[in-house]
Amino acid sequence: MSNPRYKRSTKFLNHAEALIPLGSQTFSKSRTQYPVGISPLFMHKAKGCHTWDIDGNKYIDLVSSLASVTLGYQNPVVNSAVRKQLRKGTIFSLPGKLESDVAEKIVDLVPSAESVRFGKNGSDATSAAIRIARAFTGRKIVAVCGYHGWQDWFIGSTSRNKGVPKEISDLTKTFAFNDLASLYQIFTSNSGNVAAVILEPMNSTWPIENFLSEVRRMCSENGTILIFDETITGFRFAKGGAQELFKVIPDLTTLGKGLANGFPLSAVVGKREIMGEMSEIFFSGTFGGELLSLAAANEVLRMYQQEDIIGQLTAAGELLDNLTNEEIVKNSLQDVLSLSGHPTWKFLNWTDHETATAMEIKTYFMQECFKEGILVLGTHNVTTKHTKNIIKEIARAYSKILSRIAIKLKCDQLRESLEVAPLVPLFKVR
Ligand SMILES: Cc1ncc(COP(=O)(O)O)c(C=O)c1O
Repeated sequence: MSNPRYKRSTKFLNHAEALIPLGSQTFSKSRTQYPVGISPLFMHKAKGCHTWDIDGNKYIDLVSSLASVTLGYQNPVVNSAVRKQLRKGTIFSLPGKLESDVAEKIVDLVPSAESVRFGKNGSDATSAAIRIARAFTGRKIVAVCGYHGWQDWFIGSTSRNKGVPKEISDLTKTFAFNDLASLYQIFTSNSGNVAAVILEPMNSTWPIENFLSEVRRMCSENGTILIFDETITGFRFAKGGAQELFKVIPDLTTLGKGLANGFPLSAVVGKREIMGEMSEIFFSGTFGGELLSLAAANEVLRMYQQEDIIGQLTAAGELLDNLTNEEIVKNSLQDVLSLSGHPTWKFLNWTDHETATAMEIKTYFMQECFKEGILVLGTHNVTTKHTKNIIKEIARAYSKILSRIAIKLKCDQLRESLEVAPLVPLFKVR
């Protein structure tokens, strides 16, 4: 029987799937992540930190459009700059001045940035960075750690590699975060042929003390280009991203999500000498200089220059962390749920319990969160619109949900309280 709360969403899925495979352009927004029957599946509007589904249910949004929104949906300052640009034109036949204005701000904010090129998605930037590294070094092998997008060179190294020729996948080697030996192994077995090391400088765990600096040293010693994929950490962990926070400067950096507060813009930036390869390789797109996103970025970056956005994001994240941890402890759920990562991008880690699996508990948590009007997947992606009061509201909902989880686990009733089949780990991006 279909859940009346999500009646329209569930019905619309059939319509969407008849036209669009999976009914979504983004894997993490699809029914693979949101179980049908207990989840909203389509959104209607979003403002500040709230979002409304097509059934009219309202949520506090902790997904924040996959962490691409940092200043809240429909930020009035950003939107006003975009409206102003709309009156001048969305795209021109030649480059616009805004490209250089935004590039200048990135160079001011991001330590490794001397030169900048724009793309639309994070995958554009990471793929461009890999091509530059291969062109600059004349080598083939790339070492990866984290998630870097949908293109062949990276996705071929994951379990979701259908459609990628083995010859391409073979050129990508995976190493583990905080495990220098696993990177050393790649350097020794591909001596003189490692073009690039690309990694998320941090995702769910903090780098151990010398990890990033040792990666930097190994790359320099081997003539390998070090790329920090700061698609998420950029404009979230610090004004200049994780490289500023950890004081390790890569050769190239990729930026994406936080750049334009949800408008489609990414960038590959880095040392002028290496970025010079951009004049020789082919990285070019019709919409690379699209002006609405650049107008948004210009305003976003101005705010980062003039206001303490990072302080606001961090304070919001820390409060949410503290209140969530209090609820975890109050309900004696420390063995089942833990939080990890940076306060502005915190991961919820579920562990198997004797009466239910981690996936069952996570699915139940989502089911109950959605009912309580909290949209959360696997991380807390806070924005400046997640005010103290909003976070207290989330904590009150968590208090009810975590106590339900504790009781149900104790009485071995969690499984039977699931209204749908639990999520299955189809493809783990990290
Ligand atoms: C660290 C990282 N790199 C690259 C990407 C790819 O970005 P996009 O989905 O915009 O292509 C993502 C997207 O989630 C990401 O988190």
